[in-house]
Amino acid sequence: MILPIYLSGSNVLRKECEPLTPDYEGLQQLILDMFETMYNADGVGLAAPQIGKSIRLFVIDSSPMYDDDPNAKGFKKVFINPEILEYSGEESKFREGCLSIPEIHEEVVRKSKIKIRYFDSDFNEHIEEYDGIRARVIMHEYDHIEGVLFVDLLSPLRRKLIKKRLENIAAGKTQTNYKTI
Ligand code: NI
Repeated sequence: MILPIYLSGSNVLRKECEPLTPDYEGLQQLILDMFETMYNADGVGLAAPQIGKSIRLFVIDSSPMYDDDPNAKGFKKVFINPEILEYSGEESKFREGCLSIPEIHEEVVRKSKIKIRYFDSDFNEHIEEYDGIRARVIMHEYDHIEGVLFVDLLSPLRRKLIKKRLENIAAGKTQTNYKTI
């Protein structure tokens, strides 16, 4: 089922999300719905608060970003109760967008490598290291479950330049080819 995506201005996007337990009702269906919602909107990642649930869960399929990084291809994963243990490497810039912030794309500076601990959809624990696009997408989605949006990471000048457009999104004056709320 395709779920409506919450737009910037929604309170749920600004909350620190709560951990999940394996008995969370309807979890497997929720994960399927999140993938379906993400693909329908041509996204490469979707975090639970973006569909109105304040829980520590996000899904990623970075395959469409193959041109930017061959390792992005086939990188399809579910992250439950993730914790980024380490940020390392050089800082790099990349133009990011977000399904909750339609039509705004801005260069965001982030570290290039991460080490992350998370649980998969069967609640098996993993500790893995990523760089390139995979790390970039994970960091973006991880920020969502901490209540952070990529526009928060911009310089004060860039933030000022997009302020009006963000206000328009919050006021519902935006057009998307996917369902929003
Ligand atoms: Ni996003």
